[in-house]
This record gives sequence, C-alpha cells and structure tokens, in this order.
Amino acid sequence: MKRNIIIVLLSVFGLLMSCTKDKVQATNCGGADEVSFAATIWPMIEQNCNGCHGSGAGGYTFDEYDKIENNASVILDAMRANGGVQLMPIGGPALDDSLINAFEVWICQGKMNN
Ligand code: HEC
Repeated sequence: MKRNIIIVLLSVFGLLMSCTKDKVQATNCGGADEVSFAATIWPMIEQNCNGCHGSGAGGYTFDEYDKIENNASVILDAMRANGGVQLMPIGGPALDDSLINAFEVWICQGKMNN
C-alpha cells in the first residue's frame, strides 16, 4: 500500500516536471541563443529587402527598427510565402532557412532592439 502511494507521488512529480520543462522551452524559444537586432536582423533586412523597402515598395518601409518591429509578422510570412503573403525578396529565391529561423527566434524573444 505504502509502495503504491510512493509510485503515485513519483508519477505526479514526473508529470509536474515535464510541464515545467515545456514552459521553460517555450519562453526559451527552443533554447536558441539570443538573436541580436544590430548584428543579425538589421543587416538581413538592409541587404535583402531595403533595396526596395528602404523607400516604400508596395507601401512597406523597413528603414528603422520601429517599422521592422511593427511589421515583423508580415515580414516573416513574406519570407516564407505563408498565409497568402507574396514571397519576398520579390521573385525569389527565398532567404536561407537559417536567416528566416533567426528572424522567427527574434520575434519569439520579444523583438528586442539589442
Ligand atoms: C526588388 C524589390 C524588392 C525586394 C528586394 C523586396 N521586396 Fe517586398 N515588395 C516589393 C514590391 C514591389 C511589393 C509590392 C508587391 C505587390 O503589391 O504585388 C512588395 C511587397 C512586400 C510585402 C507585402 C506583400 C503582400 O503580399 O502583402 C511585404 C511584407 C514585403 N514586400 C516584405 C519584403 C521583405 C521582408 C523583403 C526582404 C526579405 C522584401 N520584401 C524584399 C519589392 C521588393
């Protein structure tokens, strides 16, 4: 009897631990390193998008942090041609997955101006 109680307690403890672990990973954005706006996000947008969006192509200007931050989700959709948003850079090819993933992690980490 005593043994059963211990087994039940251990299972409950195990369940609680697995939930906590999931939560930590979610806020941790899959355990990714911190993505820097200055070192990664800005150069990526500047080099691949601002030939056109530095001056408002299609009504979108990404010439400063605030505008990138405000448009982050449509930018991510455009880089993956998700949700009916046209693939960008226009006409393709799409950016490297590693860059697109870094942009997604940057959003997940709170779109820091770091
Ligand atoms: C060669 C020029 C050019 C480049 C480079 C370019 N764009 Fe665009 N983009 C356009 C034009 C033109 C439009 C408007 C297209 C239209 O209305 O059909 C547009 C539209 C968009 C839109 C709106 C799309 C929609 O379906 O509503 C987004 C978001 C966007 N661009 C993001 C980006 C991002 C992010 C990059 C870089 C990864 C990028 N663009 C690179 C020219 C460009």
